[in-house]
Amino acid sequence: MTVLTNEQKNSLVDAAHRYQKHAYSPYSHYAVGSAVLAEDGQIYGGANIENSAYPSGLCAERVAIFKAISEGNRQIKAIAVVTSNAGSPCGACRQVMREFSALDMPVILADEQGNIAFESTMDGILPRSFGPEDLQI
Ligand code: THU
Repeated sequence: MTVLTNEQKNSLVDAAHRYQKHAYSPYSHYAVGSAVLAEDGQIYGGANIENSAYPSGLCAERVAIFKAISEGNRQIKAIAVVTSNAGSPCGACRQVMREFSALDMPVILADEQGNIAFESTMDGILPRSFGPEDLQI
């Protein structure tokens, strides 16, 4: 189990907050920032990136996770998400997180003031999930 120090938690929330400012969300006007702590010890951040052809956009969480994975990581150790209302990750993002994390991975949701509104785990936000083990991989 990854136990985060308060310093690690704050760094992750700060990074998510910084990345939220890079959101490209002219259609929803809902800016999301996310940051993941990867197994290499680095923090990778992402923002939601919308598109005039709406389904072509991507959520902040998946941008951050895919950045970490494409740098050679295969595990994320923690994730933070920042929105105006400390909103929850969507179902598709939860499934992508699940692929690359332990079930007890910390999940932190914060608002734009940096207040942590909700802390849970991967299993807490996606119970009885389907994952690589179900395919015996
Ligand atoms: N969004 C995220 O970035 N993450 C989520 O988990 C929920 C939704 C984005 C997608 C879209 O750009 C905007 O928020 C409104 O749905």
